[in-house]
Amino acid sequence: MCGIVGFAGSEQAAPILLEGLERLEYRGYDSAGVAVVSPERGLQVRKSKGRLKVLEALTDGGRSLDGCVGIGHTRWATHGEPNDVNSHPHLSQSGRIAVVHNGIIENYLELKEFLTSQGTVFCSDTDTEVVAQLMDYYYLRSGDLMDAVYKTLHRLEGAYALGILCLETPDRFIAARKDAPLLLGYGEGCSFIASDVTALLRHTREVSYMEDGEVAVVSADEIVVYDAMGRRVEKEHRIVDWDVSAAEKGGYEHFMFKEIMEQPEAVRKTISPRIRDGRVVFDELKLGADFIRSLERIFIVACGSSYHVGVVGKYNLERLLRVPVEVALASEFRYADPLVGPGSLVIVISQSGETLDSMAALRLAKSLGATVLSIVNVVGSSIARESDEVLYTWAGPEIAVATTKAYSTQLVLLDMLGLFFAETRGSVSSADYALLLSELQALPARMESVLEDTEKIKYLASRYFNHDSVFYIGRNLDYALGLESSLKLKEISYVHSEAYASGELKHGTISLIEPGTLVVALGTYTPLFDKALSNIVEVQSRGADVLALTTESRAQDLRRTVEHVLTVPDTHPILEPSLGIIPMQLFAYYVALQRGCDIDKPRNLAKSVTVE
Ligand code: F6R
Repeated sequence: MCGIVGFAGSEQAAPILLEGLERLEYRGYDSAGVAVVSPERGLQVRKSKGRLKVLEALTDGGRSLDGCVGIGHTRWATHGEPNDVNSHPHLSQSGRIAVVHNGIIENYLELKEFLTSQGTVFCSDTDTEVVAQLMDYYYLRSGDLMDAVYKTLHRLEGAYALGILCLETPDRFIAARKDAPLLLGYGEGCSFIASDVTALLRHTREVSYMEDGEVAVVSADEIVVYDAMGRRVEKEHRIVDWDVSAAEKGGYEHFMFKEIMEQPEAVRKTISPRIRDGRVVFDELKLGADFIRSLERIFIVACGSSYHVGVVGKYNLERLLRVPVEVALASEFRYADPLVGPGSLVIVISQSGETLDSMAALRLAKSLGATVLSIVNVVGSSIARESDEVLYTWAGPEIAVATTKAYSTQLVLLDMLGLFFAETRGSVSSADYALLLSELQALPARMESVLEDTEKIKYLASRYFNHDSVFYIGRNLDYALGLESSLKLKEISYVHSEAYASGELKHGTISLIEPGTLVVALGTYTPLFDKALSNIVEVQSRGADVLALTTESRAQDLRRTVEHVLTVPDTHPILEPSLGIIPMQLFAYYVALQRGCDIDKPRNLAKSVTVE
């Protein structure tokens, strides 16, 4: 998704902007650009389609652009094809205003029509150019930049994070936000804006988060923030404690592999501080015991892999709480007129905390009177801020587009929430509670043991990487695991794959199984192991190549039937997805590696999906 950086200081801005944009590359983009202003050389805009290195070459690493104030952008096309002209920054007709923008201006056509009738000539297909031209229109009439900014913002419908540079104010730039993330960074004698904190970590850890409607005037020595009515706002400064190296590759070939390897630590960090004296403790939750006891229905709402965490959650929370749990895709939930009301708990799961559909679902749930609890990785993100309750996964920055460690931390946090609620409701025996808790605490060490031996998975990937179609089958929690395993494979290796509940095979899908089809059979949920086995026999007898995954205790039984068996350690059955996902992530990774794919930045995908 698009990324924004802005800088005002006493050093040359463009090299700093390019470095910030590099940190945002992981978000996915198709073009990039910078605009810098100086009293001597005025507004200089350089932009190009393609990777950042094209822009770096165009600007001699930023050195050819003069000025200490500037804005930069990586674009992921929404309006208009990815090309040089549609790239940001967009310059107004008079050459006075340059704008970078994340989000979508919904009424841009209407505004474009108005401006065209006033003589404005547009050169791009983007919604963003409308912002630059409208601001120019007002600025030429009033000569007052802030007045032009506010008049423009009042006419915009949709979502925006904006960086605005003006030819006549070369010592500062302006930032504005509505429904799209933007944060302010406070350095030594310099100031920043960024759509994502990873762009700032090399320069400062002191940040504040812009709220909807706010406008900031950013100069080297201060950032002054105003609300939508133009009143001055004092921002709370926060210190980001993420490690800079955690946002870099740390010697691994790919972020995805690094993040797979980081899972035991990320899970440990997420679990450990929340277990005290043999109990799950959520200091951060304000939910009363009465509310938890009176819960009649829980909704879990999310997108993509976070939704797959929700599918595991449905099985596990229902088991632990004996309360109906509905899991819904946020993009469906928001238009489904859901039966949510006061007394419902809606759990929104999101790594980025910025996914637009999840955000819309959250707002809908709140408007219907539900209590919203979010499970989020990015502190201070929009979903975190708008939820009634937030539980943070402490996975650290996740850079690879395909999620791994965020998925794993979401999963354990949801299991812990289940235990916490179950204890409050009295729906779990103290023996089961103690057993589950000790198994949860043992997970990081068991994950480490899975990660110790990647050779067999690498070998199997080299054997199967050229299959065109892969089926993941499993029952119950193995079905949920299959959904995520299949998504991992398809998104990074571009191999078509499907996840099926094994019992559904006979209802249609089995017709696709023919000699040589690869079926990944998941049999880690031991209560249904025998059923898994009979489904394996079923597909084998139609000629499928089977790669099976099970627990160490059941491996022998499987090896009699299947040649290639991967194993994970035994744990409580409801926690098996936390272990089973690791070999599946690695399998997807090695298949993608064999196929020469751009693993960290798969085609057509973005890390944070802030458009519908
Ligand atoms: C897949 C993946 C996506 C995200 C989805 C939701 O590897 O990462 O499917 O899970 O876009 O994103 P968040 O969790 O940020 O709301």
